[in-house]
Amino acid sequence: MNLYQTVAYDEVLLRDGTIKLHGPAAFEGMRKAGRLAAEILDALVDQVEPGITTGALDDIVREMTIAGGAVPATLGYRGYEHSCCVSINHVVCHGIPSDKTLKDGDIVNIDVTPLLDGWHGDTSRMYLVGDVPLKAKRLVDVTYECLMLGIEQAKPGARLGDIGAAIQHHAERQRYGVVREFCGHGVGRLFHDAPEVVHAARAGTGPELRPGMFFTIEPMINLGKPGVKLLEDGWTAVTRDRSLSAQFEHSIGITETGCEIFTASPKGLDKPPYS
Ligand code: MF3
Ligand code: CO
Ligand code: CO
Repeated sequence: MNLYQTVAYDEVLLRDGTIKLHGPAAFEGMRKAGRLAAEILDALVDQVEPGITTGALDDIVREMTIAGGAVPATLGYRGYEHSCCVSINHVVCHGIPSDKTLKDGDIVNIDVTPLLDGWHGDTSRMYLVGDVPLKAKRLVDVTYECLMLGIEQAKPGARLGDIGAAIQHHAERQRYGVVREFCGHGVGRLFHDAPEVVHAARAGTGPELRPGMFFTIEPMINLGKPGVKLLEDGWTAVTRDRSLSAQFEHSIGITETGCEIFTASPKGLDKPPYS
C-alpha cells in the first residue's frame, strides 16, 4: 500500500491509512475553516471570566460556528453532543461542557472544530481565569512554546518524528510530562486522519513531510507525570496524579518551503495574556 495519496479538491476520501497530499484549492478551503476556528477562539477571550459556565461557552461556540456558515464537527461525533471541548486544570482534553462554572485561578483549554465547506479547522488555546498562580502560567507558556517548536520542524524533507522530538525535549527540560495517549492527526476533509502526530518521538523517525500534507499538532503537557485516566463519562481525560495539564493546537499545511498555520489568530491572540 502507498503511504501517500495525492488527492483532488473534491475527491471523496476514506480513512484508509494513507497520508493525503493536497493542492492549492484545498489550502484555500483550510485557510477559511482555520480562520473561522481562530475567530471563534478570539471571541472567547472576553467571555472567559470567573462565573461563566462551560455550557455557556459551548453555546457561544455553536452559535458563532453556525453564523460563520459552518457546523461544529464534534456535534454528533462518535456520540459527543457538544460544539467544543472545555478542559479545566487537571483535565487533559475532551472536557464536556456542562453547568460547571469557571473559578478564579483556573487554567482552561477550549478546543473548537468548525466544518466549513467540507474542511475541518481544528484548534485550541489556553485561557487564564482571573489571577492564575505563576507555576500554572509557566506551564501554559511552555506548552505554547512546545507547539511552536514542533511547528518549526514542519517542513518538506523533515520527518514526522522531528516534531515530537522537539516538543518532548522542551517539555522534559522543565520536568513536565508529555501525554502519550492522545496525538495530533491528519486533518482536512476528514476530522481525524493519518498520520498520527505523536508529541514524544525520536528525531529522524517516521514518515517524511511532503508539501500538501495537512495535520494538527496539539501537545498536552502535564505539570506532573505524563499518565492520564479516562473518567466514567467515557470522554473526560484527566491527569492520573491530578497535576495541572495544558494544551494548544494548530492545524497546519506543509508548503514548498515550510508550513502554513491555518488557525493563526487574526488578532494576534494566539496565547495568553490576551489583554
Ligand atoms: N478537537 C479534538 C481534537 O483536537 C477532538 C475532539 S472530539 C470530541 O482532535 F468528540 F471530543 F469532541
Ligand atoms: Co485535533
Ligand atoms: Co481539537
